[in-house]
Amino acid sequence: MMETGESTAGQPAETPAQIPVGVVGLGLMGCSITTCLLMAGHPVVAVAPIPADMQTALPRIGEHLTKSREQGLVTESPDHYFNNLTLTEDYGRLGNCRLVIECTLENLDIKRTVYRKIEAVVADDALMTSNTSAIPISILQQETSRPERFLGLHWAEPSHTTRFLEVICGDRTDLRHAEWLYEISHFWNKEPTLVRKDIRGFISNRLMYAMYREAFYLVENGYATVEDVDRACRNNAGYWMTLVGLFRWMDLTGVPAYHTVLTDLFPTLSNRTDVPPLIDDIVKAGGKGVLNAHGFYEYTEEEARLWRETFEEFSYEIRRLALKYPADVVKKKLAANAGDKTETQP
Ligand SMILES: NC(=O)c1ccc[n+]([C@@H]2O[C@H](COP(=O)([O-])OP(=O)(O)OC[C@H]3O[C@@H](n4cnc5c(N)ncnc54)[C@H](O)[C@@H]3O)[C@@H](O)[C@H]2O)c1
Repeated sequence: MMETGESTAGQPAETPAQIPVGVVGLGLMGCSITTCLLMAGHPVVAVAPIPADMQTALPRIGEHLTKSREQGLVTESPDHYFNNLTLTEDYGRLGNCRLVIECTLENLDIKRTVYRKIEAVVADDALMTSNTSAIPISILQQETSRPERFLGLHWAEPSHTTRFLEVICGDRTDLRHAEWLYEISHFWNKEPTLVRKDIRGFISNRLMYAMYREAFYLVENGYATVEDVDRACRNNAGYWMTLVGLFRWMDLTGVPAYHTVLTDLFPTLSNRTDVPPLIDDIVKAGGKGVLNAHGFYEYTEEEARLWRETFEEFSYEIRRLALKYPADVVKKKLAANAGDKTETQP
């Protein structure tokens, strides 16, 4: 059996059923990550660090599993997956886990306490990861006693439908462990990104926040409304980004034009470093977005609920489209064409 952390050149030598995984923190993301792991076939120990999780986690995971079955992602009923799930407040149950995924609040003190509790019970060769959005992995790994076995594993909500996953090395991470995670994440239906050197915001948040900053700049300086910026974003980037990334997009549409435009445009883009008043005012007034019907847009309670439902519906729909166009779509077409030619040869 391959030891945790060993990397093979191709497929992982083990199946998910042989790799027990722990999830600590069962909020929004912990529940969808648990769902994803169960659907892939892992035995999962889900630890609830706060009592409220014990009430909310099971119904949430059950709902994800039911929806996933309705949408054709899986064929078995939720009970089938629940047989592989241990939901507990006891960290001691993580003892057999080869990988533990921390998914608690974005707070260093909380994460530090959680790491101590995990490390007190897992084997020396287990891997520990964090779903942190923004705390550098090199900082988090200073809070652990086995920093070479600590990594970032950054998921996107809803984790059981999205292809996104960043596997992030801190300064002291052993790259072989990152490669192992990269490989097994294919069991989770991910198209992972390996971040070999730690950088604040990792890859996707750096890209996205550059765009958010410019969006604030355009609205705050009266060039366009929130609605207009959103519409431009949806119908330009939103139209092609599920098929290709930025570099392939430039290849598809002609590289020299980008060379010409960026020369004049880059110097005019926003480079402000403080918090834009547009978001500051909303947060100071208690606005959370659709969660409490107050954000960049105002919502009635019903509108807010319908946005949440529509997002869920869309997640399954876009997943179907995304699966039709995987990263290696053209390689697959080439292989199919080569097969056709062989068949038609005399
Ligand atoms: N929400 C997203 O879209 C998203 C995306 C990527 C990464 N993340 C990251 O994932 C992590 C969890 O985010 P979430 O959206 O699931 O949050 P959440 O607020 O839904 O859940 C937080 C969970 O943290 C745990 N927790 C709360 N207080 C605790 C305490 N005192 N001690 C130990 N555990 C405690 C509980 O399990 C709680 O359910 C954060 O680090 C967040 O930055 C979130």
